[in-house]
Amino acid sequence: MTAKIIDGKAIAQEVRAEWKVRADALKARGITPGLAVIIVGEDPASKVYVGNKVKACAELGLHSEHIALPADTPEAVLLAQIAALNANPAIHGILVQLPVPKHIDSAKVLEAIAPNKDVDGFHPMNVGALVTGNTRFPPCTPYGAMKLLEKSGVTIEGKHAVVVGRSNIVGKPMALMLLQQNATVTICTSRTVDLARHTRDADILVVATGKARMITGDMIKPGAAVIDVGINRLPDGKLCGDVDFDSAKEVAGWITPVPGGVGPMTITMLVANTVQAAERAGK
Ligand code: GUN
Repeated sequence: MTAKIIDGKAIAQEVRAEWKVRADALKARGITPGLAVIIVGEDPASKVYVGNKVKACAELGLHSEHIALPADTPEAVLLAQIAALNANPAIHGILVQLPVPKHIDSAKVLEAIAPNKDVDGFHPMNVGALVTGNTRFPPCTPYGAMKLLEKSGVTIEGKHAVVVGRSNIVGKPMALMLLQQNATVTICTSRTVDLARHTRDADILVVATGKARMITGDMIKPGAAVIDVGINRLPDGKLCGDVDFDSAKEVAGWITPVPGGVGPMTITMLVANTVQAAERAGK
């Protein structure tokens, strides 16, 4: 079998166009959705991600503020910056790019963001809402992965979904979203004993471990939908996912490439959450 390649770039364009209509409707009422992105320090990958987020907002005509703070910024200064954005009516969404430098308590930072502006969905109140099935801000990467499944026509209800990775940003929220759609969900980590035994039983396999090409074709059930959230840089400078694409695509029914799979969707869903935050604020 050769898998259908899920084209994240094309689906992202389609979804962005849907949200542009909603953003334009708000603008016609005098409300321009606004996103503030804060980055602390000089991590090169984070700088690229943040640049892409700000660029996507500009493309859709959203207002965006890119706040770059030095690596030695005291925690209190960051918290004061967040408090100012919480009170700024031109800003509907606030995102602090993770990770933050070690001297800053990330939990404290995420709790400082007003829950109604928490477009990442990382505030404990929004995490709780996700657990109870009342989410207002689905975390952007798993939200994007769910959209890819939906747009590709993959049935979730009743299927066995296996999520490899248990991060707060991807693995845990992904498992909750699949559960909410009535999948039977197994959560594994990169340390799960006999991981292949679990992955081979997955109708839907989502991999987010940060370990290059750790899932190979022999670990995949024929016809499965494989969503690769990983993005790893190889010694030759090329990017690859957590799934070994060449062997996996011979077995899977659907597969996302890296790059061009989940990545473009993460940013799209951030725009979606920002527009939605502005819609709620404008009611
Ligand atoms: N770092 C890696 N992914 C993310 C994300 O989705 N949001 C934030 N704020 N930081 C990240």
